[in-house]
Amino acid sequence: MSTLDWRARAGTPLRGTLSMPGDKSVSHRAVMFAALADGVSQIDGFLEGEDTRATAAIFAQLGVRIETPSPSRRVVHGVGIDGLRAPDGPLDCGNAGTGMRLLAGLLAAQRFDSVLVGDASLSRRPMRRVTVPLVAMGARIETGQGGVPPLRIHGGQSLVGIEHTLEVASAQVKSALLLAGLYAHGETVVREPHPTRDYTERMLAAFGVAIDYRPGDARLRGGQRLRATDVAVPADFSSAAFFLVAASIVPGSELCLKAVGLNPRRTGLLQALRMMGADITEACGGMHGGEPVADLVVRHAPLRGIEVPEALVPDMIDEFPALFVAAACADGPTVVRGAAELRVKESDRLGVMAAGLRTLGLRVDETPDGATIHPGALAGGEITSQHDHRIAMAFSVAAQRATGEVLIRDVDTVATSFPGFAELARAAGFGLD
Ligand code: S3P
Repeated sequence: MSTLDWRARAGTPLRGTLSMPGDKSVSHRAVMFAALADGVSQIDGFLEGEDTRATAAIFAQLGVRIETPSPSRRVVHGVGIDGLRAPDGPLDCGNAGTGMRLLAGLLAAQRFDSVLVGDASLSRRPMRRVTVPLVAMGARIETGQGGVPPLRIHGGQSLVGIEHTLEVASAQVKSALLLAGLYAHGETVVREPHPTRDYTERMLAAFGVAIDYRPGDARLRGGQRLRATDVAVPADFSSAAFFLVAASIVPGSELCLKAVGLNPRRTGLLQALRMMGADITEACGGMHGGEPVADLVVRHAPLRGIEVPEALVPDMIDEFPALFVAAACADGPTVVRGAAELRVKESDRLGVMAAGLRTLGLRVDETPDGATIHPGALAGGEITSQHDHRIAMAFSVAAQRATGEVLIRDVDTVATSFPGFAELARAAGFGLD
């Protein structure tokens, strides 16, 4: 299979007003809940990424009619909580951990059997964190050796609600248990060591489910139905993150990122960048589909290294590739701790970011759960993204401050979360082909 590479180098100061694609987490959930609802739901701002399209394709395989009247819009003809049909083959989640883990919870409660598979990266990711509590609810699921996909789910089980405290803060696991809980006898209670993104809770409530939640605690009773509702997906903060860092580190830059979703469980990077001295202001704040949004105006500013507060880690769990690049261009070292989860994302993001920054000439000291990034002048070099979309985009940002060309290998997976990134970045002033 031939793969795509980028050649990235310093461009011009970054200028313009940019719109980010729809939020990935919200898009996955919108399709899932609309599919389970009674009635027809329209989703606007749906992320046309490979991950979320894989989820939509899976629901089509499960018998749900989904129309695409125009790009970024879906009309979902819900089949009701008991209306999914047995699939005719394995369900391919592609690169998407969110898709697979949430579906594990949902499919564990169906009358039929199913098999969830994924790409090479997803096939290495840990699934016991979701299968173990589901089995405690009465599910029957087999994983591959070592607790990785494929997941073979045996339907026809009768589930009972549990009270479960997550070992690692994970919105995906929490969401899987809540979805299974919709079908379980009694109440399902999920507690978290640190609050994670609450899109499942908010959106189930919007679909008419009685759910109690506050940060770190969510509970619902089984046997409820979902009522169709329209969903407006906000722009993805995790996609905006690359432009926030890029404009911060490239002298002369000023970007306006339109109506970005600012759910507080997602915006840890904003706080970290501001602690580093970034110049980011919010304008035209409001609500979009029940989520806070604002335009983010970011101007170049000198950054200083920080100790990233451990309490911020879950709120910026997807933003560490971008943070590492900001740290590389700061004055003084940046220390990350309490982020062992990064080792089991689409790639080992601590290891891959550290290796890439070393290739560009920096010193990075790694620990099992973090790293210290020592900033310095960035040289050119050849980087492997390990097929991780966020690593690829992060190094295209780093290249804007490099003295030479940065060759970034295997950038195909950028299409999982941010199709059109390269074109948008080039239009803003990135040196990138
Ligand atoms: C997500 C939750 C996070 C995040 C992922 C999307 C979600 O994963 O890293 O990109 O949509 O629930 P964990 O819940 O495993 O931390």
